[in-house]
Amino acid sequence: MSGGFRGTGLVKHYRRGAESVAALAGVDLAVAAGEFVALVGPSGSGKSTLLALLCGWETADAGQLTYAGDLAGRRPDALGWPELALVPQALGLVADLSLADNVLLPARLRGTLADDGPRAAALLAGFGLDHLADRYPHQASLGEQQRVAVARALLLRPAVLLADEPTAHQDRGHADRLLDAVRAAADDGAAVLVATHDEIAWSRADRVLSMRDGLVTAGAPV
Ligand SMILES: Nc1ncnc2c1ncn2[C@@H]1O[C@H](COP(=O)(O)OP(=O)(O)OP(=O)(O)O)[C@@H](O)[C@H]1O
Ligand SMILES: [Mg+2]
Repeated sequence: MSGGFRGTGLVKHYRRGAESVAALAGVDLAVAAGEFVALVGPSGSGKSTLLALLCGWETADAGQLTYAGDLAGRRPDALGWPELALVPQALGLVADLSLADNVLLPARLRGTLADDGPRAAALLAGFGLDHLADRYPHQASLGEQQRVAVARALLLRPAVLLADEPTAHQDRGHADRLLDAVRAAADDGAAVLVATHDEIAWSRADRVLSMRDGLVTAGAPV
């Protein structure tokens, strides 16, 4: 399955009463299938807001968002885990599922639990989580929970992978293993966009986009 995406003139304001925050001020970006793009920028520059639009959690006030290939014509909020997988900045694990069941959640929703069991086990082992499989999120460290969120996103080899600072809570060794897996997803054909402050992640990416004050200021497509 292939599916790059393109955003043009994306604008998003957050309103609270009379106050309005321009989180995105007209973002243009494109990520092709097979490409790993890193999204960098200071805290508050709009990275998470952009990912929230791309995954359909939020809708843009203006601008166009289109998915390509097998995802052409689809709305982001209608895409499932095999099509679009997200690693949220706040992780979003299900509290009353074990870590293994959190990783398997996309397979459970797709109805392919048995088929996807071996890949889930391999991801857990690869991220140093196999001995924690039966624990619940509140019994795991933040870094361990984050690796579960990345494994969940990778499980079904999604066409689009969006990850919000996926190495933020990792030591260098674990961060490198997560980045190897993200790099492999792109090499297998996924369109990958990773918001990150991790300079090693930038070096693993094909391209780096810089954000500032709600705009992509450098590295935007010409
Ligand atoms: N729900 C909200 N209501 C009001 N303002 C918001 C909301 N969510 C985000 N913002 C504001 O929008 C701007 C962009 O926030 P965003 O979370 O996208 O930044 P970020 O680049 O992801 O930052 P960080 O590196 O800290 O994660 C910030 O000024 C933030 O305060
Ligand atoms: Mg953020």
